Amino acid sequence: MVTLHKTNYIGEGTYQMCYVHPDFNNLCLKLRKGIRTNKSRVDQEIKYYEKIQKRNIGFPFLSKYHGELETNLGIASVFDMVRDETTNDISASMYDYLLRDDSPFSDELFITKLKELKGVLVKNKILIRDLTAKNICCKVLANKSVELIIIDGVGHRDFIPMVEWFEILTRRKMNKIFDRKKLYSMTEHREWLAHRNLLY
Ligand SMILES: Nc1ncnc2c1ncn2[C@@H]1O[C@H](COP(=O)(O)OP(=O)(O)O)[C@@H](O)[C@H]1O
Ligand SMILES: [Mg+2]
Repeated sequence: MVTLHKTNYIGEGTYQMCYVHPDFNNLCLKLRKGIRTNKSRVDQEIKYYEKIQKRNIGFPFLSKYHGELETNLGIASVFDMVRDETTNDISASMYDYLLRDDSPFSDELFITKLKELKGVLVKNKILIRDLTAKNICCKVLANKSVELIIIDGVGHRDFIPMVEWFEILTRRKMNKIFDRKKLYSMTEHREWLAHRNLLY
């Protein structure tokens, strides 16, 4: 069993608390917040991850899932920790960069990178239902360019998974997600996130 301390804590979202593995700093351990209420969402995501990984696709634009691990705080889901190549620090999220006045990455760059990301997702017929700046880490590469890596929010809620079978349906659904979450303009996406934060 792995013992997690306060010092291993790196951050959290609505559903999970994230820790760095005390012995392997390239692994991110995620623990569910209210087990009962959020079980189904996280479980669905894990199932979807397993499905994608069986098809051997999704990398490097999704952080890799490595199964479960017992910790003193409960069962954790294990993922690759996204780190910058330049510093080996844990990569900041796109949200962190969008809030910074001195961000090294422009809104235009993020818009281009997001469109590229959508292209790869559609080609691989992968759905990311909660694609937002908070669920994307920006990995700074050695040459100072940036790679977007999705760390959360994968999957869809369709009972019959047609969107995983036909590229045209994946594209249609991802376009809808981009529209809904205002991902074609970072100014609008910032506003959308601010509004959504108020709701939680
Ligand atoms: N694989 C990872 N690599 C680096 N940082 C991560 C990783 N997974 C999560 N984080 C950080 O932890 C925060 C919350 O994680 P997330 O998986 O989005 O939780 P939730 O399911 O509650 O939304 C993220 O916004 C990010 O800053
Ligand atoms: Mg999240």
